[in-house]
Amino acid sequence: MKRRVAILISGRGSNMTALIEAAKEHDVPAEIVVVISNKADASGLPNARDRGVPAVILESKPFGNDRAGFEAELQAVLDDNRVDLICLAGFMRLFTAEFVQRWQGRMLNIHPSLLPSFPGLDPHGQALRAGVKISGATVHFVIPETDAGPIVMQGAVAVRDDDTPATLAARVLQIEHRIYPDALRLVAGGGTRLDGGVCRTTAHGRSGDTLISPELA
Ligand code: GRF
Repeated sequence: MKRRVAILISGRGSNMTALIEAAKEHDVPAEIVVVISNKADASGLPNARDRGVPAVILESKPFGNDRAGFEAELQAVLDDNRVDLICLAGFMRLFTAEFVQRWQGRMLNIHPSLLPSFPGLDPHGQALRAGVKISGATVHFVIPETDAGPIVMQGAVAVRDDDTPATLAARVLQIEHRIYPDALRLVAGGGTRLDGGVCRTTAHGRSGDTLISPELA
């Protein structure tokens, strides 16, 4: 049976679109049943509706610091839609520890760095300032700490000397659109198991897969 998935967005929703498109494939054990945005002007909303996915606006601003109040409304939408799994996709609002615990092992996030490096704001600027030669994106289960939690999947790109945060972000975003749907497929299909703070999976990288950067000619 397909797992019922909610995607939470605040903006452009390109990862949301990638998840919706991928879930249309017959062999994907996940169905995107609702998109929820905490911003009325999120530009991703029409893309969800155009693809036949109901999109709900639940403005968080009127709740101010009342996180629990916002989460009660959010939980009601999730209950109404009998949601099994949540995918955060550029959702710019922090949760209470209580909400995160309720969804422990059932809520995923994507962050555009190779966690645990560069959590938080401006991950691409952080990566460039650190001078790393490889960066990428991480899909992880959500825990109360921001941009942390058991790692489900990562994808990497070479960092170039002439990269700016914008050029690096664009290359990493392409990776995000590949790994988030794959990670959802893995989790929804029961291919992951939480072992303490570590996610074990039935999938693994191909042996011989390497990325060396910079690579000499
Ligand atoms: C992505 O880079 C994601 O990793 C981060 O926020 C950005 C959202 O982009 N959490 P989009 O809204 O999915 O296009």
